[in-house]
Amino acid sequence: MKVVICDNYEKMSEYAARIVASCVTLKPNCVLGLATGSTPIGTYNELVRLYQNEELDFSSVKTFNLDEYFPIEPTNSQSYRYFMNKNLFDRINIPIENTFVPNGATSEARAECENYEEKIKEYGGIDLQILGIGQNGHIGFNEPGDELIAATHLTELDESTINANSRFFKSREDVPDKALTMGMATILRARRIIVLANGKEKRNAVRALTDDRISAKIPATMLKLHKDVTLICDKEAYGDRD
Ligand code: F6R
Repeated sequence: MKVVICDNYEKMSEYAARIVASCVTLKPNCVLGLATGSTPIGTYNELVRLYQNEELDFSSVKTFNLDEYFPIEPTNSQSYRYFMNKNLFDRINIPIENTFVPNGATSEARAECENYEEKIKEYGGIDLQILGIGQNGHIGFNEPGDELIAATHLTELDESTINANSRFFKSREDVPDKALTMGMATILRARRIIVLANGKEKRNAVRALTDDRISAKIPATMLKLHKDVTLICDKEAYGDRD
């Protein structure tokens, strides 16, 4: 795994955005895997800037998001569809029909997950996957456990994830306790992966990502099985090391 330690969140976001931009420039019809949460917001802002100032062209790009709460309407301001429209899609020239987020309002969760997997294959697979990392080491909503699920699936959220994400909701009770998420194999099939982490709350997860253990109890450690992963973090997340 390549590790890039940046001075701060801003530098981390610029670095990540440059990687995404070069992917889009080299392959204008590339397929991007996207994350939500607070970590990639700076990267999305920088991509918007590159679109506005340097005419980075998203008109042929396709995107697949990692996950969505369940159940939730796409129009709900806490949904990941809403988040993506607001933070990225509505601010660049990507046709909205090229953007895919699991449908959290479906009454057929299993079919939705199977279709999502199929759709990714149909578009040729993910060229570049952007990941954040949970404090507990989750990626997407693949939560720590004795075993992990390979394909896109409906999952229960960990108590610690509900607590961490309650900052975005009116109260903890409003946080959905389930989500639709790409599975570990879905993520690992991406041709290239970048993992973003900032702040001291992510230090334990980043440490686990950079030692040589692999465990389903820290799902992000599975990324060590992939041949092209770059961790891009700030100094706070990396911590002091000898
Ligand atoms: C979001 C996602 C999650 C987040 C993780 C970190 O689509 O898949 O795995 O990346 O929970 O969230 P933040 O960035 O809010 O700390």
